Amino acid sequence: MKIVKKIKARLLGENNGNEIKSSGNSYLTSKEIRAISKANAKVMLRLEKYKNRKADESEFLSEMKDPKNILEIEDLNTYFFTDQGVVKAVNGVYFEIPKNATVGIVGESGCGKSVTSMSVMRLLQGPQGQIYSGSIRFRAYDYKRDGHGNPIPTGETAENGAPVYETEEKVYDIAKMPINEIYRIRGKQIAMIFQEPMTSLNPIFTIGEQLDEVTFIHTPGATKEIAKARSMEMLELVGIAAPERVYKAFPHELSGGMRQRVMIAMALSCDPRLIIADEPTTALDVTIQAQILDLLRELKDRIDGSIMLITHDLGVIAEMADYVVVMYAGRVIERGTAREIFHNPLHPYTIGLQMSKPTMDSDSDKLFNIPGNVPNPVNMPNYCYFKERCSRCTAKCSGDYPCMVQVSPTHFVACHLYTEEEKNG
Ligand SMILES: Nc1ncnc2c1ncn2[C@@H]1O[C@H](COP(=O)(O)OP(=O)(O)OP(=O)(O)O)[C@@H](O)[C@H]1O
Ligand code: SF4
Ligand SMILES: [Mg+2]
Repeated sequence: MKIVKKIKARLLGENNGNEIKSSGNSYLTSKEIRAISKANAKVMLRLEKYKNRKADESEFLSEMKDPKNILEIEDLNTYFFTDQGVVKAVNGVYFEIPKNATVGIVGESGCGKSVTSMSVMRLLQGPQGQIYSGSIRFRAYDYKRDGHGNPIPTGETAENGAPVYETEEKVYDIAKMPINEIYRIRGKQIAMIFQEPMTSLNPIFTIGEQLDEVTFIHTPGATKEIAKARSMEMLELVGIAAPERVYKAFPHELSGGMRQRVMIAMALSCDPRLIIADEPTTALDVTIQAQILDLLRELKDRIDGSIMLITHDLGVIAEMADYVVVMYAGRVIERGTAREIFHNPLHPYTIGLQMSKPTMDSDSDKLFNIPGNVPNPVNMPNYCYFKERCSRCTAKCSGDYPCMVQVSPTHFVACHLYTEEEKNG
């Protein structure tokens, strides 16, 4: 019992210095694994209960800190409870997405970009993957509801014949929403475009059936004709020249670029206010990549929405983003406007990322690389996670993890080099 308590505290970083002694860094005895599983099971059970509870709307209504934002992520912690220990995939993340802005999230593989987006969509694979704590505030337009929870019709009908319902603006804390309430937001207000459209589309249904389903789910009272009209409109909107043919086609009959356009059409069909695009162009060749990026940019203005663009390609970020968030090992280490991050990068990791970008005018025939590896996600150190790879570290870097320093109204960096500067005024 004692070892379970100690392991639970250690796994969640609540050890207060009472580190339990394991037989090594990478090897766990079967006794330790059993103790970890037992400790994990308790926490997972509590979090699953919280996720599946029935709750009144007032429990997850919230308020934006800044009315200009559409999404505010505050101190988000998303963990995976594995038999090797707790993977703190997202570890105290803060950032916001203003209205009508594109925010680029960059960082190397495994730094927590996708887990952040999956947390926003509440698509984490439970019971192992859980939002442990934090807030994800989202400004939504939801239907006004009567006493039974049904949307209230205005009595009017839209151009395509669908009934129109009264709406109102509400701020939801997505992290606190019970999972059965998430339909109010997921797909409808926040849509997601994934990296590989072939694995996101269902191979046994036609594109039309899959597109129509989005309208059926999110538009109360939608008929087959209304759904088809909406699907055709969306296919035309994303630049598909023969929408009737694509509507009847199966996913395998389309090219990669066409499939990604279909995914975008699907994401747009409920007029989302926020589109999360997770590596939307990685699986495409460069010419199609440019077309898809143009399309995303154009559509963002058309729907008057915002984009959270996840990519490891700094070129894509430079072209698309208004703001950039740089992540490293589950934490945000620097964020600012695209101009600040590209013209005045401050964190040694961001500087390294910029240097590793291939350029036409480089004299060297070798690409720059940042030496070393990201620390083991199960046993993160207490000090700066970049220390082992940093060429600028000082004695202070062995101390506590650096706090976020504000260097301009929009530019923040977590590095001791700037905590010193701040102290010196
Ligand atoms: N189901 C899971 N179980 C355990 N750990 C997981 C799981 N899914 C993700 N992780 C861990 O969470 C961390 C963040 O993963 P994530 O997928 O967010 O990385 P990423 O930044 O999107 O990387 P990439 O650029 O390769 O897509 C990684 O350390 C990963 O190993
Ligand atoms: S805190 Fe120290 S080790 Fe970490 S990035 Fe800054 S200088 Fe490097
Ligand atoms: Mg990813």
